[in-house]
Amino acid sequence: MSRIAYVNGRYVPHRDATIHVEDRGFQFADGVYEVCEVRAGRLIDERRHLDRLDRSLSELRIVPPMTRAALSVVIRETVRQNRVRDGIVYLQVTRGIARRDHAFPDKPIPASLIVTSRSADPVKRDKAADAGVGVITVPDNRWDRVDIKTVGLLPNVLAKQAAKEAGAKEAWFVDAKGEVTEGSSTNAWIVTADGIVVTRPAEHGILRGITRAVILDILAAAGLKLEERAFTLAEARAAREAFFTSASNIVVPVVKLDGAVVGDGKPGPVVSRLREEFYRFAEASA
Ligand code: PDD
Repeated sequence: MSRIAYVNGRYVPHRDATIHVEDRGFQFADGVYEVCEVRAGRLIDERRHLDRLDRSLSELRIVPPMTRAALSVVIRETVRQNRVRDGIVYLQVTRGIARRDHAFPDKPIPASLIVTSRSADPVKRDKAADAGVGVITVPDNRWDRVDIKTVGLLPNVLAKQAAKEAGAKEAWFVDAKGEVTEGSSTNAWIVTADGIVVTRPAEHGILRGITRAVILDILAAAGLKLEERAFTLAEARAAREAFFTSASNIVVPVVKLDGAVVGDGKPGPVVSRLREEFYRFAEASA
């Protein structure tokens, strides 16, 4: 079956899905994106993803390309045309097409919107999570507005490639203070020796993960102890459990950190419980 992409008002075959050479997303990474999970034909946490998209757009002063209701229709239509039951939907909004100049265009231009969707095998994903994965650490060399979900992802790309070359699944950024900020495309968590779940506060230095927000709800409902504070790499090394979260992989246990075993080297009880409970707490919309 051929894939379809939505590009600036048209549904086109994936191979013909192109943008203009002077799209500011292409030339300046002047744009933002969202990734939302599709599970059993339903969108997971669409509302919160679209809230975050609105926030990213407003931080960059990009006028939304259409109303939220219209965007929801485009998202669903893209998922439908690609016959995705389980997978992801990706949306990207850039400031639009204009003669190359770093400053914003003087006259308002329409924002560009692309939406794509693709299938992913949930069984395969669960298998990887059952075993747990390895993470490496890299210096955090990003700008200080990583709370905006921009398509300027070069440090993240290089970090993920370093992880891949090291045989790991993810790279965790570590800042100048020796504190873990987040993963290249995920939020980072540990469980301390005395059973406290720790994750960095979402004010600064990380993306406010939607999956992260759902996990906070689960922890509160389950009465598990949580500390929202920065944790150091040394603490992560001594942790009983570690894991990362994102819309594309939900909750993934980390059993190796820079080649050293975390905890007893197997996914622990806290992470397993979070994986089990996730969809009871996430919002699913048809
Ligand atoms: N990444 N931190 C970073 C840097 C991310 O890129 C992401 C998401 C997250 C987790 O956020 P959420 O739970 O809302 O997915 C944290 C997406 C999945 C991506 O770039 O593919």
